[in-house]
Amino acid sequence: MIIVIDFGSQYNQLIARRVREQKVYCQIEPPDIDIERLKALNPEGVILSGGPASIYEKDSPKTSSEIFELGVPVLGICYGMQFMVHELGGIVSRSEKREYGFARLQIKKQDELFSGIGKTTQCWMSHGDAITGLPEGFKTTASTENTPMAAAADDARKLFGLQFHPEVEHTPDGKQMIKNFLFNVCGCSPEWTMRAFASEAVAEIREAVGNRQVILGLSGGVDSSVTARLIHEAVGDQLTCIFVDNGLLRHNEGARLKKLFAQHLKMNIDYVDASQSFLDALKGVTDPEQKRKIIGKIFMDVFEQEAAKIKNAEFLAQGTLYPDIIESQSAFGGPTSIIKSHHNVGGLPEKMRLKLIEPLKFLFKDEVRKLGETLDLPEELVWRQPFPGPGLAIRVIGEVTEKRLAVLRKADAILLGEIKEAGYYRQLWQSFTVLLPVKSVGVMGDRRTYENIAAIRAVTSVDAMTADWAKLPHDLLGRISNRIINEVEGVNRVVYDISSKPPSTIEWE
Ligand code: XMP
Repeated sequence: MIIVIDFGSQYNQLIARRVREQKVYCQIEPPDIDIERLKALNPEGVILSGGPASIYEKDSPKTSSEIFELGVPVLGICYGMQFMVHELGGIVSRSEKREYGFARLQIKKQDELFSGIGKTTQCWMSHGDAITGLPEGFKTTASTENTPMAAAADDARKLFGLQFHPEVEHTPDGKQMIKNFLFNVCGCSPEWTMRAFASEAVAEIREAVGNRQVILGLSGGVDSSVTARLIHEAVGDQLTCIFVDNGLLRHNEGARLKKLFAQHLKMNIDYVDASQSFLDALKGVTDPEQKRKIIGKIFMDVFEQEAAKIKNAEFLAQGTLYPDIIESQSAFGGPTSIIKSHHNVGGLPEKMRLKLIEPLKFLFKDEVRKLGETLDLPEELVWRQPFPGPGLAIRVIGEVTEKRLAVLRKADAILLGEIKEAGYYRQLWQSFTVLLPVKSVGVMGDRRTYENIAAIRAVTSVDAMTADWAKLPHDLLGRISNRIINEVEGVNRVVYDISSKPPSTIEWE
């Protein structure tokens, strides 16, 4: 395995992904990781990530310099290189000016890191300070016009530094450099696949659980579905999935999921229809945050009640993913973690005193999808678009009533059907319908109508932090609009949302 020390760069998840793409396992750790723990992890190599700080800042992140004495190869990237040079006695000069953008890289020495790469290539720079003196044993291996020491290496100690970012697309040979580090320098072997991950995870779960009981909150989303599948594979009927139907699901969703999990996947499903409690509590509520709070609270109550019925339950399984872990462990989490926290409606009822099992906590979303495919989960689960915990309550703008939910469900089913039919479902991050509390005038036959407006939202995104409105073909949008207006009583106008995030959000509430 490879350890990435997280100095706070926006790109460090990308480093981990680049390594894993080469089928080598990689874990991100904070700079203050205890050196004994790091040794115990027995890495084949360490990558020091970039970061926004200058090593001269008082609180700049530091990791133990013993890292350079372990005999394990180290690759320092950007700030990581500056840290390494500074710690080992070289000179890093302060600069007020940042070098940012593309640069031509001249390779001076085709060492193990640069093998198979031409004499000149392009690289992506983003740094303030610059290296002006190398520690003993180091040689410059590449330079750019503005950065004479753009890469350096101490071959004997297997220490390498790159002032630019090999992990980003803008450094086209970066992948090769990372590959070279893994296989030429560290001697890793490409063995980390989803199948290997699955069998290891299954063995670990079996060992941890023994003959005790596990419960899991199933939402039907890809994360909870894959978690359930993995745990079921490990302990079979010792797993009970609790599915809380909050009455805010889409057309037929609850029934389909129940059938899929109980009949097709043969899991123990505790299907709780709590719709009435949710709808009663939402009566008269129009404020979005208020809706979220109410839904979150009732969910917890129902879940706890159900969990209490399962005798000897000792474990709670959750589909936590790696980005959540990285964000919560990072000292430089920044605003990202704050924006996301309020989305966590289905969080763990802390007082339940159950031991957590989080088998996906080292995986990224696309890896979870791959794992789902490896475990033969049906396509409709593996490729399901994200759906918010509060469900349709935040898509019926204003008060949530059964009648309005029914209108929205019908319109949304038409939209999703057409999107799937046209082959756009997988390309879109999310596509859904929103019911507005605004009426507009229309004419149907000879009759004047005065009905609601439905808005269609379809976005592309990588991680929901930013999103772009999807440029869907006009004829597809036209078909959706016609069908909704003709088939859904209560809607006489359809609009398409052409706002991006930021400044808008994906959901309307
Ligand atoms: P926004 O609307 O903030 O949404 O751009 C970003 C992503 O988060 C989802 N979302 C939620 N998920 N509980 C959830 O579980 C929530 O309260 C919630 N609000 C938004 C949204 O669907 C999108 O994928």
